[in-house]
Amino acid sequence: MQRFVVGSDHGGIDVKGAVIATLERRGAQVVDAGTNGPASVDYPDFAVKVAGMVSRGEADQGVLVCGTGIGMSMAANKFPGVRAALVTDEFMARMSREHNNANILVLGGRVVDVPTAEKLVTAWLDATFEGGRHQSRLDKITALERELGLVKQ
Ligand code: RB5
Repeated sequence: MQRFVVGSDHGGIDVKGAVIATLERRGAQVVDAGTNGPASVDYPDFAVKVAGMVSRGEADQGVLVCGTGIGMSMAANKFPGVRAALVTDEFMARMSREHNNANILVLGGRVVDVPTAEKLVTAWLDATFEGGRHQSRLDKITALERELGLVKQ
């Protein structure tokens, strides 16, 4: 069973709920990393929880939601092994898997409505990484992480 972790700030609560429901309908195991109320919170705190779990292998994949998705993307992509993709349409959601093998999907809760968010998650889940030349490109990102000292040699 695929293990997912999903988190948002206050700008992404409704979309986070819809994403969790979509994942659970598909039989996934889902950890809700919060936030769970309307109070203003800081998006990096939730990016750290979700991206940390994916980076350490405690979750297979993750979803992050903030108002625009921009801050969550910035924070999540600091983590070694994390490939977080901010997407706004189904083409981007599909390509983020087929070419980039994104292991975290990032959505903007003030950018997409709930039905659109459900479609984006579904497109991402249904797509398959194509490997080949795309794997070579991801290998270059992994090599860069080593060069920058972000992972053990
Ligand atoms: C919070 O107001 C907002 O800045 C946050 O949700 C996000 O959009 C940041 O990138």
